[in-house]
Amino acid sequence: MPAGAYRYDAATHALHLVAASDLRRVTGYQDFVDDAPVDLIFVANSERMALMPADQRVFFASVSAGAIAQNVYLFCASIGLSTVIRAWLDRKAVAAALGLNPDHQVLLSQTVGFPADTTKE
Ligand SMILES: Cc1cc2nc3c(=O)[nH]c(=O)nc-3n(C[C@H](O)[C@H](O)[C@H](O)COP(=O)(O)O)c2cc1C
Repeated sequence: MPAGAYRYDAATHALHLVAASDLRRVTGYQDFVDDAPVDLIFVANSERMALMPADQRVFFASVSAGAIAQNVYLFCASIGLSTVIRAWLDRKAVAAALGLNPDHQVLLSQTVGFPADTTKE
């Protein structure tokens, strides 16, 4: 978000500040990501998947990210917001900006915003 990047903690349903600067432009190559209200980044943490065979981790993490993104789509549809899931991003740049470690894998990004004003087109 404009004020910074936050990690979502599902257990406490809370956001924790990771970087107090505007990192939105780092989350993708397309222009709209720079000033969208929210750009989500889905990151897998292989440390949390220690009990799973290594060759299945990316598969499970990717399916999970897809399911989470679909929930975001459903919520956005329910309140009239727009969203777009994005795989075209510089994962190394995102990892550096967020201070991720080698156990973290950047999977996808997803922008949330307001519908375009088509009356101006
Ligand atoms: C896994 C995945 C990755 C995608 N990556 C991008 C992307 O990087 N940039 C983009 O504009 N659309 C991307 N898309 C497509 C959009 O998410 C979306 O489906 C498309 O823009 C059509 O949206 P609309 O039906 O709301 O117009 C991706 C879709 C999927 C399923």
